[in-house]
Amino acid sequence: MATNRTFTMIKPDATAAGNIGAITKMIEEAGFRIVAMRLTHLSRERAGQFYEVHKERGFYADLCAYMSSGTIVPMILEKENAVADFRKLIGATNPEQAEAGTIRKMFAKSIEANAVHGSDSDENAAIEGAFFFAGIQQY
Ligand code: CMP
Repeated sequence: MATNRTFTMIKPDATAAGNIGAITKMIEEAGFRIVAMRLTHLSRERAGQFYEVHKERGFYADLCAYMSSGTIVPMILEKENAVADFRKLIGATNPEQAEAGTIRKMFAKSIEANAVHGSDSDENAAIEGAFFFAGIQQY
């Protein structure tokens, strides 16, 4: 069943560049309500768990090292059609292919350091949100 929530996190390249405020502003101006948000770090092991679905990919080790290299800002967002609309707002995984005006086009540095994550399905949004926020049903 479709839900109206998605999960995102601002990644270490974007937090290091001082873009937390600019990115959350774009998210809110696009009509998303931030229902949970925190500033945290991932150990390499936790990064590996989060991206376990990619563990057979050639970029997995680098991705885990990168995602544990600095501050991240995980968030749960609410909006009608949240998963699909948020993926439109962030643009393609590779910023070179992202449309003008998308978050990744504006803030990503590379296909790996691509500023933000966005869930690809309602099911993964729920799993990924629960990874960072216990008891989220209360929000
Ligand atoms: P994200 O949407 O968080 O999901 C998987 C992440 O792996 C992706 O963003 C990138 O940060 C990273 N990544 C690195 N290289 C690749 C690649 N070649 N294809 C897809 N994702 C990649």
